[in-house]
Amino acid sequence: MENYSILAYLISGIFFILALRGLSSPETARRGNIYGITGMIIAVITTLLLPGIESYGLIALGILVGGAIGTSIALKIEMTALPQLIAAFHSLVGLAAVMVAGAAFHNPSAYGIGDSGSIPIASLIEMSLGSSIGAITFSGSIIAFGKLQGIMSGNPITFKFQHFLNAVLGITLIFITVLFCLEQTQNLFWGLTILAFVIGFLIIIPIGAADMPVVVSMLNSYSGWAACGIGFTLSNNLLIITGALVGSSGAILSYVMCKGMNRSFISVILGGFGGDDVSVSANKEVEQRPVKSGDSNDAAFMMQNAESVIIVPGYGMAVAQAQHALKEMCDILKKKGVNVRYAIHPVAGRMPGHMNVLLAEANVPYDEVLELDEINRDFASTDVVFVIGANDITNPAAKTDPQSPIYGMPILEVENAKSVLFSKRSLGAGYAGVENELFFRDNTMMLFGDAKEMCESIINALGK
Ligand code: TAP
Repeated sequence: MENYSILAYLISGIFFILALRGLSSPETARRGNIYGITGMIIAVITTLLLPGIESYGLIALGILVGGAIGTSIALKIEMTALPQLIAAFHSLVGLAAVMVAGAAFHNPSAYGIGDSGSIPIASLIEMSLGSSIGAITFSGSIIAFGKLQGIMSGNPITFKFQHFLNAVLGITLIFITVLFCLEQTQNLFWGLTILAFVIGFLIIIPIGAADMPVVVSMLNSYSGWAACGIGFTLSNNLLIITGALVGSSGAILSYVMCKGMNRSFISVILGGFGGDDVSVSANKEVEQRPVKSGDSNDAAFMMQNAESVIIVPGYGMAVAQAQHALKEMCDILKKKGVNVRYAIHPVAGRMPGHMNVLLAEANVPYDEVLELDEINRDFASTDVVFVIGANDITNPAAKTDPQSPIYGMPILEVENAKSVLFSKRSLGAGYAGVENELFFRDNTMMLFGDAKEMCESIINALGK
């Protein structure tokens, strides 16, 4: 059976790798999901067939209760609330790692790692790594969830000597871990676990809610490494492979997000980049300069008389759930002979691929959806850009103002187009809390109102 299980685990590992490959593009994402599900089914069945399982009844009960809770959450959850849901799920992965490590320490013979007091050093290292990374993931994810859900203040919580305290606690954790590996006492095990819980809490509280999605992705990576640690404790090859896949892909995703937002990757890993959190500046007063504003008739007139239109979606489109109305509007424009394309910024919205998912949901053809690098040069030869619920990702301050929190972030250069339409409710700032100079430019027209309602009324004005 053991040989078969190794083979089956290898096959599901391959399916997981194919799943990650598929998820890297919207076109292949569905296939990627199917690969992932297949890999997981093989993994679960193989594990259930392993000798040593004592109660199928309890396992079935767990799958039923967990499955029911998961299904009901998945059906109800709003797309914009996914980051906090993911944070909540990661906290459970972290807690599971702590529990498995605790169980292995208290009953080592059940895990085939010797007897209490004579556990091999390698297993003690795996156990302490699994438990401490799991505990950091658990408490860090709980704080991330609280901040994103608005249960606790989203503002960075900072105090004097915070970094110093974190460093001292980090060194103490290493010291206790070494002692635990030498002495294997219960107090040391739970001491290191509790300390790791505290560290998880302390490294996430200084980070503002606005920066949480990057942190959630980083915690995702931590939860993968925690699972990898448990894999060693349980001598389960698949858990080692899967944990490493989650750990490394989460780290790569965080890196890509940091690059897109012009953040330092190292300070995210160390939980220190929220100190001068950008959301603090969000309370700036909105400037009272005159702007040119128009209505749906103006927008319809300009777009149907254009040769080319580029749509730039952002977070506000997700909030308004305007993707279906937007697609309908674009279809009418295309029927009228207008060349319509969509430009996607890597960090538009609030989570990776946010806009791609929404546009795919509205059945926007993939070949009309272009990434920043593919389309940025085309703005200069475009008649009208329709910016729908986006703000920071178009803000030229990212190129011109070294004091700006978004300085250095690549932007979609919509300003180069002949005309720019901004569909948003006010002159209010976006996520980074900075004013957008483009609103006051001569070639800009503001279309104030909810994005979905604006698209619907443009559809009426275009006369289906
Ligand atoms: P933002 O800069 O946050 O701008 C969104 C705009 O949507 C707001 O200015 C808001 O203006 C408007 N809006 C809100 N509700 C609306 C509605 N119902 N109808 C119409 N407009 C509405 O979004 P963006 O341009 O997509 O940029 C994303 C930002 O999030 C970047 O700064 C990025 O760094 C950050 N971020 C992204 C990620 C990822 S991975 N995507 C993760 C973390 C942070 P009004 O209030 O005036 O309507």
